Amino acid sequence: MKVEDIRTVGVLGAGSMGAGIAQVAAQAGFQVKVVDVGDAVWARARKTIAGSMERMVKKEKITADQMKEALDRIGFSTDVGTMKGVPFLFEAVFEDVDVKKELFGKLDAVCGDDAIYATNTSSISITEMASMVKRPARFVGMHFFNPVPMMALVEVIPAMQTEKATTDLALAMAAKLGKTAITCKDTPGFVLNRLLIPYMIDAVRLLEAGVASAEDIDKAMKLGAGMPMGPFELMDFTGVEISYLVGEMFYKYTKEPRFAAPGLLRNMVKAGYLGRKTGRGFYDYSEKK
Ligand SMILES: NC(=O)c1ccc[n+]([C@@H]2O[C@H](COP(=O)([O-])OP(=O)(O)OC[C@H]3O[C@@H](n4cnc5c(N)ncnc54)[C@H](O)[C@@H]3O)[C@@H](O)[C@H]2O)c1
Repeated sequence: MKVEDIRTVGVLGAGSMGAGIAQVAAQAGFQVKVVDVGDAVWARARKTIAGSMERMVKKEKITADQMKEALDRIGFSTDVGTMKGVPFLFEAVFEDVDVKKELFGKLDAVCGDDAIYATNTSSISITEMASMVKRPARFVGMHFFNPVPMMALVEVIPAMQTEKATTDLALAMAAKLGKTAITCKDTPGFVLNRLLIPYMIDAVRLLEAGVASAEDIDKAMKLGAGMPMGPFELMDFTGVEISYLVGEMFYKYTKEPRFAAPGLLRNMVKAGYLGRKTGRGFYDYSEKK
């Protein structure tokens, strides 16, 4: 199968990542079939997609007609059965191995022998996931970044069982979606998170040790290292719990102390100081501020 032969793609999960993947796939000309658990989720996802496209129209990156056509190419259902005959499926459901396993069981019952499954998991082993499906040779990791329409990178991660044709197709698919792909081995964190998570955790260690304030650490990395956001701004933006949970997951697999969460990070998660979305993280986003 070549990417030029693919007309329709499936997207499982319409959360932050699934909605973004559905959007870039529709904009690349694919018919997109989305499945999630409820219509309310889809109403929210569709609003997100339309809002993102509207901003692109305003910036004259796409026309209003292109926006309408792309939106019309996306269909939604709560029924996994709609994935019958779909040749390329992106999985972006909750980061929970049992949820993913159950979903792949359902997909195996309806999808054809040639169907490719591309998981967007950030922290579960691709090889472990491939072992859950009927045709592990057609299973691959395609790790997108949030927000998907904005972020140019995709990490393509073959499982131990993945055949070369599947990896090649994933690379061609990434290019078709307008992304730049890198390939990497199936190891915790792949490339980006393997570097980024310890960086953020180390920033928390500096703060905890009283070396400098969050503001000054952020300033140092922005003004001295040219980072667009400092580590604390970044954690508040992505969700403080992500660094904690992903770090702990990597620590569980590798036992490398650089992934282990410092007490301050753990306590912030326990206190619900998760960043922008809760109004407080390393910075205060409450209205009075
Ligand atoms: N958020 C990020 O920054 C980010 C970045 C890269 C990769 N990822 C990965 O992408 C995946 C999704 O993450 P997210 O942030 O979009 O999560 P999310 O919580 O925003 O969305 C997950 C969606 O999956 C749906 N879902 C759950 N069970 C389902 C099922 N059985 N069938 C269909 N839909 C189901 C939920 O209703 C929800 O809408 C995870 O594997 C995560 O590790 C996330």
